[in-house]
Amino acid sequence: MRIYRKLLVFFGKFKIKCKYTDWLVYFYTDSARKGGGQEMGKRFEGRTAFVTGGSRGIGKAIVKKFAEEGANVAFIDLNEEALSGTSAELNDSGFSIYSKMADVTDKEQVENAVRETVETFGSVDILVNNAGVIRDNLFFKMTDSDWQTVMDVHLKGSFIAARAVQKYMVERNYGRIINISSTSALGNRGQANYSAAKAGLQGFTKTLAIELGKYGITANSVAPGFIETEMTRETASRIGISFEELINVSLKQIPVGRSGKPEDIAHAAAFFADEQSSFVNGQVLYVSGGPKN
Ligand SMILES: NC(=O)c1ccc[n+]([C@@H]2O[C@H](COP(=O)([O-])OP(=O)(O)OC[C@H]3O[C@@H](n4cnc5c(N)ncnc54)[C@H](O)[C@@H]3O)[C@@H](O)[C@H]2O)c1
Repeated sequence: MRIYRKLLVFFGKFKIKCKYTDWLVYFYTDSARKGGGQEMGKRFEGRTAFVTGGSRGIGKAIVKKFAEEGANVAFIDLNEEALSGTSAELNDSGFSIYSKMADVTDKEQVENAVRETVETFGSVDILVNNAGVIRDNLFFKMTDSDWQTVMDVHLKGSFIAARAVQKYMVERNYGRIINISSTSALGNRGQANYSAAKAGLQGFTKTLAIELGKYGITANSVAPGFIETEMTRETASRIGISFEELINVSLKQIPVGRSGKPEDIAHAAAFFADEQSSFVNGQVLYVSGGPKN
């Protein structure tokens, strides 16, 4: 009799559980079918992102990420071949894009590109200051021009682009500014210029966060570690080793045991760009497979 009662209780619970799971399955599939809540992968629908140096490497991955998640995407670059290749690729995929050859250190070129972006899409909601160059050398051998070029592209370029977009962002009381810094901001041999510029970008980010926060604009920084791109390929050839060797050397320092891909940085940029990240402001996120400080 006791066994019979236990069996009844067991099957009773099982029945309730089945009903509950059926209901959950129905709820999720039905709400997904109706596009209930935030539709997966389209969180940037109606938004326009402007990405500097967006034709290759990390910039290209960021451009693709925003486009895939519904944004109109504008990007500028100095590399004509990469710009036309990436533009054709995105056009073929049916994305809404604006692309133009422009130098981030040239105020007029950047301001024109931002204005044309707003004329094309109606707004500029997200800026990613990604364009970058390296002119590495040991400090005692570093030339004035190595120093100035790196300062101009990273710092002056980010200043020009951020000032150009803030005008439109303030009008709409909404904006997301993301500056691509680097783990080199913490110091790196052969990069006195680059580490100074990338550390400077972090100070710039925090100041924008303080000044622009009240206009619904957040400013944050992503600081990547070793990412496989043309830039790190160039580093390998400059120091005279193969790219694979450079990756293997870098891997020894990365706790997750793999090198970074441009998509890892695009993912972090999308987090800061998300409308729901409105309370995340003035932060630096190291994306390097392990802790940095
Ligand atoms: N690759 C890494 O390991 C790594 C690590 C930390 C930070 N970063 C930073 O990430 C950003 C992207 O780097 P990446 O590795 O994709 O490099 P990349 O060289 O592949 O791409 C940089 C892009 O910026 C463009 N660019 C350069 N100068 C420009 C200018 N004056 N005006 C307009 N566009 C210009 C280039 O043409 C290129 O398309 C850079 O700011 C870089 O400093 C890279």
